[in-house]
Amino acid sequence: MSRVCVVGSGYVGTVVAAGLAAVGHDVVALESDDDKRSSLQAGDVPFYEPGLPDLLRAAVGSGRLRFTDSPADAMDSSDVVFLSVGTPSGENGRADLTALGAALASIGPELRHHHVFVTKSTVPIGTHGWVEIMLEQASNGGTAPLFAVVSNPEFLREGTAIGDFLYPDRVVLGSDDPAAMDAVERVYAPILEQAFDLPGSIAPRREDRWDGPTLLRTSLATAEMIKYAANAFLATKISFANEMAGICERVGADVTEVAVGIGLDQRIGGHFLNAGVGWGGSCFGKDVSALIATAKDFGFPTRMLDAVVDVNRAQRSVVVEKLQRHLHSLMGRRIALLGLAFKPGTDDLRDAPALEIGRRLAQLGARVHAHDPVVTAVPADTGISVFLDPFEAAASADAVVLVTEWDEYLDLDLDKLARVMRGHLLLDGRNALDRAAVAGAGLTYVGIGRPTAQPRTGAFSRGA
Ligand code: UGA
Repeated sequence: MSRVCVVGSGYVGTVVAAGLAAVGHDVVALESDDDKRSSLQAGDVPFYEPGLPDLLRAAVGSGRLRFTDSPADAMDSSDVVFLSVGTPSGENGRADLTALGAALASIGPELRHHHVFVTKSTVPIGTHGWVEIMLEQASNGGTAPLFAVVSNPEFLREGTAIGDFLYPDRVVLGSDDPAAMDAVERVYAPILEQAFDLPGSIAPRREDRWDGPTLLRTSLATAEMIKYAANAFLATKISFANEMAGICERVGADVTEVAVGIGLDQRIGGHFLNAGVGWGGSCFGKDVSALIATAKDFGFPTRMLDAVVDVNRAQRSVVVEKLQRHLHSLMGRRIALLGLAFKPGTDDLRDAPALEIGRRLAQLGARVHAHDPVVTAVPADTGISVFLDPFEAAASADAVVLVTEWDEYLDLDLDKLARVMRGHLLLDGRNALDRAAVAGAGLTYVGIGRPTAQPRTGAFSRGA
């Protein structure tokens, strides 16, 4: 088993630290924030990620995971170091490497034996060279090279991160040092060979059609590029679906069926073709902008990526335009948003479409109420009031908008919803609801890129 250090106990770092301990490694997590460190050491996760608290408690309980704030302790206890500090969007979409630089500066002086540094944080292509220089400077340029650098991009999705970590489609390692890649490959061996045993209560569900992980060894720049290209392509698929939705609406087609019809072609694939309010979250916007910024540095035009971002931005206005079409002026209207998180399975509000939609509706004079199964507060400047019950949020609403397709909303009592509303418009911003069931409850169903369904004849109906 390997001796591993994970630097940074944010979302990715915590999953990686707990996951690597769970498959048998000795892991020390280096975290400078006192509150975060002590709550994680006690098994409490300060954000919402299904299954992570149990995995973390099992890892800490087994003695294979511990947290420290001492770079010396962390370096002395490890041979492979995963760098998982945040790299938020900085100026002009460029990734901000301040936290990574600070981490390297604190670690560098503590290198007393050889370490392999693994960049897990999403960093601009070419950053490995900067990491080497930072470490060299911080380690006072020791005579023998005390480290090697490997890029190992992460492909975890919020909400399903543990399953994505333990059952990945691929593990990408990039380096010009084969021995360093071997060391990281050994860390991943239990996952690559699926040779680990987790109690049923902790093991996440594995996708039915999963062929096992593929290991890909590349150069550093290629590994870094794979991460950006993957997120850019997924964002492109969604923006493509959203553009198709706009055309479908105009020609009277249903984009959800079009997505199935094209997705069955194995060359296209059915994933990430759900049209709706568009992508949000901390990754797609940040990574596509960073890739555009990198291309700009080389004077290379990114016509496709620019369009992908434009389509996504416009998609959030589509909800507002649809509400205006059906309700006319939004002054004094009551609109309820179902779902605030940028996707189900997380409490993350970064670049969440709901916040932007809510803010815009409030600016247009609407009173905006919202509910989310895990988010209970939003920034005050959004003008959104959060309720703890979906029906309370929808009480006397002229329209309800489904923004995040939490399971709880897919099973919502539509008759009750229709009763508590004063209007009858249900705008399905994720095309996730059953149109006929909505219409059957006496509500007008409006989706994104699919025909509207009017309240079924004979069903209870009221004016807006
Ligand atoms: C994304 C990638 O999927 C991960 O592989 C990657 O590791 C991660 O970014 C990252 O770079 O850290 P994540 O942002 O957690 O993961 O969530 P996704 O499931 O990819 O969803 C992103 C957004 O796209 C959400 O707002 C979601 O609602 C939206 N989406 C997704 C659609 O609008 N339509 C779809 O068909 C799929």
